[in-house]
Formats: sequence, C-alpha cells, structure tokens
Amino acid sequence: MAVASEKTRSAYAPAGLKPMITQTIATEHFNKRQGAAPVLLRTVDLSMRFGGLTALDRVSIDVHQGVIHSVIGPNGAGKTTLFNCVMQGHRISSGDIQLAGERLIGLTPDKVAAAGIARTYQNIRLFTGITAIENLLVGMHRHLKSRWWEAVLASSRCRHDEEKAHAEAREILKFVGLAGRGDTLARHLSYGDQRRLEIGRALCTRPKLLMLDEPTAGMNPREITEMMIFIRRVREAFGLTIVLIEHQMRLVMEVSDKVTVLDHGVKIAEGDPAYVKSNSAVIEAYLGHAAQRQEHPA
Ligand SMILES: Nc1ncnc2c1ncn2[C@@H]1O[C@H](COP(=O)(O)OP(=O)(O)O)[C@@H](O)[C@H]1O
Ligand SMILES: [Mg+2]
Repeated sequence: MAVASEKTRSAYAPAGLKPMITQTIATEHFNKRQGAAPVLLRTVDLSMRFGGLTALDRVSIDVHQGVIHSVIGPNGAGKTTLFNCVMQGHRISSGDIQLAGERLIGLTPDKVAAAGIARTYQNIRLFTGITAIENLLVGMHRHLKSRWWEAVLASSRCRHDEEKAHAEAREILKFVGLAGRGDTLARHLSYGDQRRLEIGRALCTRPKLLMLDEPTAGMNPREITEMMIFIRRVREAFGLTIVLIEHQMRLVMEVSDKVTVLDHGVKIAEGDPAYVKSNSAVIEAYLGHAAQRQEHPA
C-alpha cells in the first residue's frame, strides 16, 4: 500500500510549498517505490472543450501498469469526461492519449475496447431486462470467433464457443459473488450486486485496463467497505491496472497507489494518497466546494 510515513511526507511535501513543486517531488517518490513499472495509459496535454466550457485543460497523466490509480476532484472537475475521452466517446480538442505507447485518438470505442480498455459508468448501465449471466455473455460477445452464419447453422465451432463462454461467464459470476444467481433478472439484484455484475461484465472483455466511474455512488458504509475489498481482489485476481474515479476519500486513501486530483478540468495535484491528502491545493478545492454547498444548499 502506497502510504508515506509522516517523516517521509514532511520531507517530500513540507507545508507551504507551492502545489506544482510538491507535485513533481511526490510523483518521483511514487515512481521509485513502484519500481518504475511501465506506463500503460498516458494522456499528454489532453484538452476537451464543450463550446465555451473547458472540461479538461492540458491534463497529462501516466497510469503505471499494475497500480490502482484514483482520479478525484469535486463535481464537474472533468473526471467522467476523462474516461469518455479515453474511450473515444468524444473527439478531443487537443493532446494525445496512448495505451502502451499506441495512440487511441481516432479509434472507435469498439476498437478501444478491443485494445484492452473496459469501463463502468457512474450510473449503472446493465441490461436490466435480461438475466445476470446474459449480461456477462453480452460482455463476452467480441471474443467469440464464430461468425453469424455459423450461429445460424449451429456449427460445432459455434457450439464450442458458446459452451466456453458460458463456463467463463459462470466463473466470473462466482467471482463477483453471484454464484447461483445467474438466472436472476439484473433488475431484481440488489444495488451492490448490480454494481459488481457491471464490473464482472467489464472483466468479460478481458481488459488490461479497467476504468471504474464512482463504483460506490449511493452505497452505505458497509457496502463501500465491501467494494473496497472487491476492487483489490479484482486487481490481484486479474493482474489488472485500475483507474478509479471516486468520491469516497476513505476508499481512495486505502486502495490507491497513486492519486490525481482534478479541479475545473486542471490537474492540481498528483502523488501517493498520504501526500495528496495533505496537499493544500487539494484541501482548498474540497473545502471550497463544501463551503459553496453550505452557502447554496441544493
Ligand atoms: N457532453 C457534454 N456536453 C457539454 N458539457 C459537458 C459534457 N460532458 C460534460 N460536460 C461538462 O464538463 C464538465 C465536467 O463534467 P464531468 O466530466 O461529468 O465532471 P465530473 O465527472 O468530474 O463530475 C461539467 O461542467 C459538465 O457539465
Ligand atoms: Mg462524473
């Protein structure tokens, strides 16, 4: 777990240092401890403008292989937009995005998925009218080698693919804690189960990189703890790299190796959780927004 000791933290990020300076130092500190794992996902000066609104402003992030890298920041900071840009759901305004050194710009979202990135959504997007196992089989679809006419002719290759897919789907179902619930309609599962099923569906595409957008949104403290344990298990069992958008600071602090903080589309800090937690610009961004909320309660 990437937590700097109190002594290290004060040595690397003494109080009063400007965020930009401490940011560089904290990032170096992180890299040394990670044994300089290669960069899997890289954004370079990524900007995304919607008309006059700059949702991302020259954001450069390196996600190292094998880490849990959290992206935090107040509402409207640009976190979900970052995911949408990586998946090529938006045509970016400027900059670059690379997966293991290969440019993603201009690919279709399907091709990005095929390159090894899977994501979940802030608001769950399951097919609620079909069963849990069917949701997983949909996720697996692109791995099936059979062509449509083989399906029509029910060829032996097609049958073999289908049996294999079912066996894998059952494994994933078990992994996400839904063994024996495969025939339950997704809409009849509890909220926590639906969240894990959605992650299971993302895992069915066999990604290298899994991007989770607020997986604990709307959860109670017990469910949040369970999700935290689950995310760690996902990383370990599948040897994945995970980018996690999260509001729950407890979760962020406990599971992340590295944290990037966005505010109004700008990266304001980056480093290990202990450093980010004590960073004055981060505290200000969060407290500033909390104070605004108190002044203008919804
Ligand atoms: N498709 C879009 N069209 C116009 N504005 C958008 C779009 N998507 C996001 N935005 C704006 O970009 C900003 C960042 O949004 P978002 O990435 O959803 O923030 P976060 O996920 O950090 O809460 C917000 O001001 C939001 O209103
Ligand atoms: Mg969001």
